[in-house]
This record gives sequence, structure tokens and C-alpha cells, in this order.
Amino acid sequence: MALKHWPLVRDLRFAQKCGRFLRGARKRRPDLAWAEFLRIARHFKQDDMGSFAERGYLFQLASDLPEDAQVIEVGSWMGASTCFLAGGLRGPRAKIFAVDNFQGLSTCGEDAAWYDRHFRSLGAKSTLDIFRANFATLGLSARSEPVVSDSLAAAAQLAAKQGAIDFIFIDGDHSYDACRADIRAWTPLVKAGGVIAFHDFGSRADGVTRAIFEATKAGAFAEIIGVAGTIIAFRK
Ligand SMILES: C[S@@+](CC[C@H](N)C(=O)[O-])C[C@H]1O[C@@H](n2cnc3c(N)ncnc32)[C@H](O)[C@@H]1O
Repeated sequence: MALKHWPLVRDLRFAQKCGRFLRGARKRRPDLAWAEFLRIARHFKQDDMGSFAERGYLFQLASDLPEDAQVIEVGSWMGASTCFLAGGLRGPRAKIFAVDNFQGLSTCGEDAAWYDRHFRSLGAKSTLDIFRANFATLGLSARSEPVVSDSLAAAAQLAAKQGAIDFIFIDGDHSYDACRADIRAWTPLVKAGGVIAFHDFGSRADGVTRAIFEATKAGAFAEIIGVAGTIIAFRK
């Protein structure tokens, strides 16, 4: 086991890095419920899908939504990003639809090998039970609805929500074709003035970056509202 995964070393690294992030975040946005962010971050200490800056930005974007906001996430994996989003939401009817095949299926070759390794070490064929257990442990289950489906099929299934979604976060298939198709399929569901954000912009998943650039040039989004790590967020 690598030294950084030893429980004591992991806890020290977590305390240092999360503490540093929170000191800055509390200065920048003293109005947000960072104690809730910390509670969720502690639960996902071993998560390696995003930095504190990225997780914090998702939490902030969700916190800034109106009460009872309706959110869609495309690509939820074990639900870490989903929980940070859910933790920021307010209101008894706020909901996040978590779209994923929950099998790490992807047309992106590099992703596929990575997921294969993960599933072998998990000894499982789906991340759905883990997703549900994470939400239950954090007491956030009422705010989430897993949609077990391929992304494009789910966009068709949720088409009745066209123009009614406050925020969509896309972190699914990272190939150029799939990301382009996701942008086309999901953007119409976001209401005017709503938010659409992506993970892995400017990362080594260059297909994602290309697809977002093209959509931006084609006028799919009204303005960029923020960047944190490899997350980029737009106002529609
Ligand atoms: C990078 S992971 C998501 C990580 C998660 N957002 C987080 O930060 O914790 C990408 C997820 O997208 C899902 N996925 C990839 N292609 C998909 C598709 N076409 N339809 C549905 N889910 C897909 C995979 O199963 C995987 O769980």
C-alpha cells in the first residue's frame, strides 16, 4: 500500500489540505454552510475523483441555486460529487437526478481501462449500491434520485423537464463524440439563466475540452460564470 493511503498519513493529509481549502473558502464565501461541506468531505476522504477546490465549487454552485432547485448530474460513479451537490441544495423539494449506467461503461478507451481496474478491486459490477449507501450514511437520500441509464437514453426519458432544470453537471463519457452528444442532449433541459457545468475541461481528456470549446463558439451558453480546477461553469 502506498504511504499516502496509510490511515494516519491519509488523515493528516486530509486535515492539512481540507483545512487550507476551507480557510480560503470561508473568507471568500462566509455565507455558505462550510460545516456541511466538511461533513461530506470527511465521508469521502478516500475519494480520488476531484480536488477540494472542485468539490467546493460544486457545493458553492448548488448553494447559490434557488430553493427547491432541480439538478441533474450526468456521471455520478459512487456519488461523491453528487453528495457535494446535494449538500449545497436547500428546500424540501430540492432534488438531484443522478444519471449513470453505474457500471463505468464508457466509449473513452482510457476510462474503460481505469474503470476495469476499479471494478476488479471493488469486487462489484455496479456502483449503484455504493452510491445509495453514501447518500444514506450522509442522510441525503431524500435529495437524490438515481437514474440507471445510458446518458442519451436518460435525456430522452427526462425530456419533459425541458427548460425546468436549474443546474446540470456533466461528468460522464469523456470522449469527444460523447461529450458533444451530451451537450446537445442535455442543454435544452436547463432553464434560461440556469447553470451548466463540466468536469475535466482542460484535463488530459482533450475530447471534453474540444467539445466545450465548440459549443461555446456556437453560442450554446450565454457566459462563463466560473472555473475551479478542471470544472468550468456557464450560465445558459
Ligand atoms: C468520472 S466518473 C464520475 C465521477 C463523479 N462525477 C465524481 O466526481 O465523483 C464518470 C461516470 O460516468 C459514467 N458514464 C460514462 N459514460 C456514460 C454514459 N454514456 N451513460 C451513463 N453514464 C456514463 C460512468 O459509469 C462513471 O460512473
